[in-house]
Amino acid sequence: MDNQAFEMHGERIQSPSKGKEWPRKEERKGNWSLMKIFLVCLLACVITTAIGVLVLSLVYTSTTGIVKEVSMKDDGASSTKPDEKSVDVKFQFLNHLTKSKVFNFAGGEIQWARFRNDVNEYENDEEMEFGKSINNHRSSMTFGTLRIKSKGLRVPHWHFNANEHGYLQQGTAWIGVIGADDSTVTTYNVTAGQVIFFPRNTVHWIKNVGTEDCLFLLFFTTHEELQTLDVDDAFFSTPEDIAARALKPRGGVNFIRTFKKQVEDQAVNLPPNLDELVKSADYVQSPDHLVWQYFYNLKGSREYHFPGGIFQWARYRRNSTGLNETEKIFSESLNKHENTLTLATLRIFSNQLGQPHFHFNANEMGYVISGCGQAGVITSSGAVSSFNIGIGDVIFFPVGTQHYLKSICDEDLLLILAYSTGDQLETLRMTDYFHATADHILAQIFFKEQDEFQKFPKSKK
Ligand SMILES: *[C@@H]1O[C@H](CO)[C@@H](O)[C@H](O)[C@H]1NC(C)=O
Ligand SMILES: *[C@@H]1O[C@H](CO)[C@@H](O)[C@H](O)[C@H]1NC(C)=O
Ligand SMILES: *[C@@H]1O[C@H](CO)[C@@H](O)[C@H](O)[C@H]1NC(C)=O
Repeated sequence: MDNQAFEMHGERIQSPSKGKEWPRKEERKGNWSLMKIFLVCLLACVITTAIGVLVLSLVYTSTTGIVKEVSMKDDGASSTKPDEKSVDVKFQFLNHLTKSKVFNFAGGEIQWARFRNDVNEYENDEEMEFGKSINNHRSSMTFGTLRIKSKGLRVPHWHFNANEHGYLQQGTAWIGVIGADDSTVTTYNVTAGQVIFFPRNTVHWIKNVGTEDCLFLLFFTTHEELQTLDVDDAFFSTPEDIAARALKPRGGVNFIRTFKKQVEDQAVNLPPNLDELVKSADYVQSPDHLVWQYFYNLKGSREYHFPGGIFQWARYRRNSTGLNETEKIFSESLNKHENTLTLATLRIFSNQLGQPHFHFNANEMGYVISGCGQAGVITSSGAVSSFNIGIGDVIFFPVGTQHYLKSICDEDLLLILAYSTGDQLETLRMTDYFHATADHILAQIFFKEQDEFQKFPKSKK
């Protein structure tokens, strides 16, 4: 209690003996009555001035009219700007990932479009706007890029709070996944254009076995901070005797003690003497029924054409008619786990439009792989935002927001998209809801003759 009081009143009454406190309080009372008089005077001054200004301004506005009003508005706007940091609303839907912090490792690098608990962790206000947006909308998505150099290794690790879905844009990697149920190891060489899926808490590693860099585009099913543990960190955090008793090596605890933790974070590792360390390595592939639980050949899958471009999908299908064996395994695997994502590549042909639509049951996040375009979003509050997008940009459309994408250059616009549903995606296009609305209802809302709505082409259905 005492301490609390001291804190609240500051230094002046921080006296250990009560006797000394009284005179001080009286002193303060004296000061207080002087202060009162001063404040009353000040108030009087302010009121007088205000009345003066009011009278003057009334006289003035009656003569100069509108001109004065406009200039007052201008003053008002410019004076409020410095205190409120206004970030363009578009950054709730757009993240320039290429400008974000690069986390460098010996074997590669990682970049993020994500939510941070500590706002000081954001690089700038734009990044913060995006992070807050995906968290406020409970998006179930975080995006990251992982680049691994030739022979580099993303060391075995697992994520406590998210499934991982990804797309290999470039390179070849040998991946191992350790199943949660029976610790079965599944290994596979994943190649560019394929999709990966690692359920929450399955240990996995990724080794670049090609000559060029691997570039993974990764979606994690959380809008909180991703929680990850690398196997080496887990090892060094385990007491030596416990590790010895669990792992039972020859030489026991003395052998365990010969392991030395590296100074640098080994998240993406590439020891300088790798060739000495690893003499012969084989990169085997597990049987199909294991492999296709975690991998999917998106690039080789069926193309869904629409007037402006092409979709390809890595997703769960309730009706598996038409899926081949590997596709069925992947579809079932997605359905077996909670909170999975639907992935897709979207190619919009040069200068074409992906028409306005919205999704009933999913947030959408995407990354621009190539081309250049424009995105537009309309939120529930009617706020409109349209902005240009280019390679390396991440976009976010919350569930229910109408949005469109179009290509604005001579190249196709290519994106990898993720939707926060493990079920079938439900979409309504602008043409559908417009055509589905009765002519007389449209005439009434738009103040137009009913006949005029015949000008819109009827949908083919
Ligand atoms: C995986 O790729 C590596 C490197 O190219 C190769 O040596 C290995 O044979 C491949 N494994 C399979 C199963 O294709
Ligand atoms: C099944 O479909 C995938 C693409 O989704 C394709 O890569 C694969 O070759 C197909 N498998 C068979 C046996 O046709
Ligand atoms: C599944 O889809 C096929 C064709 O795509 C259709 O013929 C069949 O009736 C569907 N089955 C069910 C149960 O809906």
